[in-house]
Amino acid sequence: MASHEPPRPGARPPDAEPLPEGESRLDFSRRNFLKTVGVGPLAASVVAARTADAQAVANPVGPAAVPIELTINGHRHALSVEPRVTLLDAIRDRLDLTGQKRVCDRGACGACTMLVDGRTIYACSMLAIEAQGADIRTVEGLTNGTVLHPVQEAFCEHDGLMCGFCTPGFVMATVALLEANPTPTADEARRALDGNICRCGTYKGVLEAALTAKGVRRG
Ligand code: FES
Ligand code: FES
Repeated sequence: MASHEPPRPGARPPDAEPLPEGESRLDFSRRNFLKTVGVGPLAASVVAARTADAQAVANPVGPAAVPIELTINGHRHALSVEPRVTLLDAIRDRLDLTGQKRVCDRGACGACTMLVDGRTIYACSMLAIEAQGADIRTVEGLTNGTVLHPVQEAFCEHDGLMCGFCTPGFVMATVALLEANPTPTADEARRALDGNICRCGTYKGVLEAALTAKGVRRG
């Protein structure tokens, strides 16, 4: 008489093919399951990631100061900072390079704009320890002795500054733009500089400077 009991979880259907000789139902199921869904490599990577996480938890960085090394304007600086310290604070407060300004301190105004590996970043929103090994550039690195960089010249020529708090950030953003695109259109320049804010309203002069600065070479 046919049984009306529900099948047990994992039970083989009555019409399933016979198992290979010497193989238990458990072996067969596990291997075929792994083959079917391809989780062998995935499982290995999950285990490796968990192991790395566990090691990171076992060896946390900080909260005390840790030694780091930053390369700024081509010079290497060894310093000791707590892991919570931003790149901006490390450079301004520990290394006395105060060109880039701290205004909003929350990634909203662009006054702290620096170049990291050729790309603009808000230094108030990046940790100093994250910038290790990168090529960091600030406004201090632009002049050659007493000779201004072409972008600085253009800012002076076109009155691209008033109080000057936003200016180093605008200058670095303009340098990044012109190193990537020496002849931008007005729209391209506006887009490249739209992460920077000027409370004094010098946008017209900044744009003219960005469109007329000549001789900017890739840094
Ligand atoms: S100070 Fe960094 S974005 Fe304003
Ligand atoms: S020149 Fe004053 S904030 Fe831009």
